[in-house]
Amino acid sequence: MPLASLGARAETLARPVTMIVPFAAGGPTDVLARILAEYMRNSLGHPVVIENITGASGTVAGLRAARAAPDGSTITIGHWGTHCLNGAIYQLQYDVREFEPIALIASGPQLIIGRPDLPAQNLKDLVSWLKANADKATSGTAGPGSGAHVAGVFFQQLTQTNFSFVPYRGAGPVLNDLMAGHIDVMFDQASNSLPQVKSGTVKAFAVTAPARLAAAPEIPTVDEAGVPGLYIAYWHGIWAPKGTPPEMVSVLSKAVMAALAEPAVRARFAELGQDIPPPDKQGPAALRSHQTAEIDKWWPIVKSANIKAE
Ligand code: MLT
Repeated sequence: MPLASLGARAETLARPVTMIVPFAAGGPTDVLARILAEYMRNSLGHPVVIENITGASGTVAGLRAARAAPDGSTITIGHWGTHCLNGAIYQLQYDVREFEPIALIASGPQLIIGRPDLPAQNLKDLVSWLKANADKATSGTAGPGSGAHVAGVFFQQLTQTNFSFVPYRGAGPVLNDLMAGHIDVMFDQASNSLPQVKSGTVKAFAVTAPARLAAAPEIPTVDEAGVPGLYIAYWHGIWAPKGTPPEMVSVLSKAVMAALAEPAVRARFAELGQDIPPPDKQGPAALRSHQTAEIDKWWPIVKSANIKAE
């Protein structure tokens, strides 16, 4: 998108923009944020500075973002966990629905992965191993009530297994500990673990989707691998604090969409197993309606599963 078509950018955003990332640096949300920030700079004419604010499954960052000045200088990236699940699981001092939507970015499944020396060779083996090691098996998560935790609880219910959840400040540090053998399994966003799966430093057992990933067609789906129906689509979006003026929302949204149209961004997202929606499903209205539909779908499920943050 030519710079001139961003119209009021110079007038509305005359300084760098801070993008809050609610998890640790190097994890899946951080990676997507940094790719987009680099290209948003071209449109905005100012840097987009990443600030990682971690803790409590993104709710520490959520509160900070909710209370930031609504002047276009602060935006936050978030996802299925931060802007859907957290609203059902945590007693929050903000409402996950109160932000101004900027853009729906992309969606990708999780991978069920294990430490490299885990004896299991496939998902059925993994279920048997977990049953035999119920007193000591561990699964790392990006925090209590995070997507990894919720997926793990559903997996336990579907497989009649029981293992402990270990909370971290993001999926990046979990993956490091999985590779080092400090924890056993992880329900991880594919974008985080695909490079390690490819290099053989973790074991991949299944993808939580009805179809295999184009970026890793060798990994079976949960249906094929023996835990049918465990579908998790981890979508990311970008929001601004409530009350951010519409003209700033529009400039920011166009900058994200221009970044998503860049061939280099599209290629990198494809490598990470990320599906970018078509342009007419990326803007503020599309993100609002996607988030609303996800809340309508998941809040009753999470509440009836009695998943707690503590
Ligand atoms: C992260 O960046 O650490 C993740 O998005 C956390 C998660 O899987 O929810």
